[in-house]
Amino acid sequence: MPAFPDGEPAPETGELPAASSDGAAARPFAVYVHVPFCRVRCGYCDFNTYTASELGPGADRQDFAATLGREIALAQRVLAGFPARPLDTVFFGGGTPTLLPARDLAGMLATLRDAFGLASGAEITTEANPDTLTPAYAQALAAACFTRVSIGMQSADPHVLAILDRTHNPDNVASAVAAAKSAGLACSLDLIYGTPGESDESWRHSLETAIGHEPDHISAYALGIEEGTKLGAQVRRGLIDDVDPDVQADRYEIADAVLAAAGYDWYEVSNWARPGKECRHNVHYWKNSDWWGFGPGAHSHIGGTRFWNVKHPRAYAERLIRGVSPAHAREVLSPEAREEERIMLGIRLREGLSIPPTGKDAIPTLIADGLIDGAAAIKGRVVLTLRGRLLADRVTYALLGVR
Ligand SMILES: C[S@@+](CC[C@H](N)C(=O)[O-])C[C@H]1O[C@@H](n2cnc3c(N)ncnc32)[C@H](O)[C@@H]1O
Ligand code: SF4
Repeated sequence: MPAFPDGEPAPETGELPAASSDGAAARPFAVYVHVPFCRVRCGYCDFNTYTASELGPGADRQDFAATLGREIALAQRVLAGFPARPLDTVFFGGGTPTLLPARDLAGMLATLRDAFGLASGAEITTEANPDTLTPAYAQALAAACFTRVSIGMQSADPHVLAILDRTHNPDNVASAVAAAKSAGLACSLDLIYGTPGESDESWRHSLETAIGHEPDHISAYALGIEEGTKLGAQVRRGLIDDVDPDVQADRYEIADAVLAAAGYDWYEVSNWARPGKECRHNVHYWKNSDWWGFGPGAHSHIGGTRFWNVKHPRAYAERLIRGVSPAHAREVLSPEAREEERIMLGIRLREGLSIPPTGKDAIPTLIADGLIDGAAAIKGRVVLTLRGRLLADRVTYALLGVR
């Protein structure tokens, strides 16, 4: 797989290459806001997030919305030469955005709306920990024009939750979903499969419990054992078994069968939804639309330039207070690199992608191996089969012409 280079230094003004605005009017514009705070760190998670004791001075939670407002003002200046594009989707992720008061999320959304406008029917999501989503909080989100919440359920099995080092109260998933629904918010649940100690039965039970909450959307991720996490250290020391890729593949197949039977269709390798309830923001990533990622460590992609912010909230705040862009580095993609990205990202979607010139020769073998859909290929598209979804990297290599 082609690795992203370290990047070149990003200009302090945040300015983009002139060509970034070419064709922008035809590209949807999305925003991601990274809120890097958690009450406790889960043992498996290596996201860019900090507990209160890890944060240190200079990056207080209560200043976060105001600091983010400075980056929004900078983005507005940088994008001044672009055609006006109201935001199609906004996604607050983390971390745990719902650790902030709802008025802070509402305030950041209002600042974004004032800067760029919101498209009619814009999809506005926040991630939420089950312990943080009360009825009052959900009502405040809905009043501020949020349309969706994505709740980190992970599992219904207390034993699995303990191995994951999750501290949320499993009973709160039901109350969080009820709070979201009664406020009129669409609801998604995140699940993790293949945790050491999980069985086929306990995974089925987690899926069925999630389905029982009647969410609009379910994401299911294979547990990754990440360097530098508590779980990673426990696996390295032999205290917990490593994940087994064959078991994870079996669990993926169980997920797809159980979810499909309950009316949730896959639209991206790790995402299933009721018809019409797909996460548009997710799809913007896989289609390589333009998005600006605000917040510490957030990544952006605008018109073929990728850039990414400094990771620590203090360094992020210091730069913005000095009037300097928080972007740490950037990569201006060549046409070849843009095509590689189109393949690597688009292959994950159920709608697939048009057969790339580099992959034409591989198509007969991919069909014979049961990795892509033969009928779609006749129409000029590459669409993964269930087996292909389990081996998506192999298909990607073949389409890139890498042997
Ligand atoms: C930012 S968190 C979601 C919101 C909230 N912080 C929570 O955990 O309740 C995003 C999702 O990433 C997934 N995730 C994080 N680390 C993972 C890992 N190592 N392997 C698989 N999934 C992971 C979890 O399902 C988690 O819900
Ligand atoms: S999984 Fe969610 S709550 Fe847990 S540390 Fe990661 S971001 Fe925080």
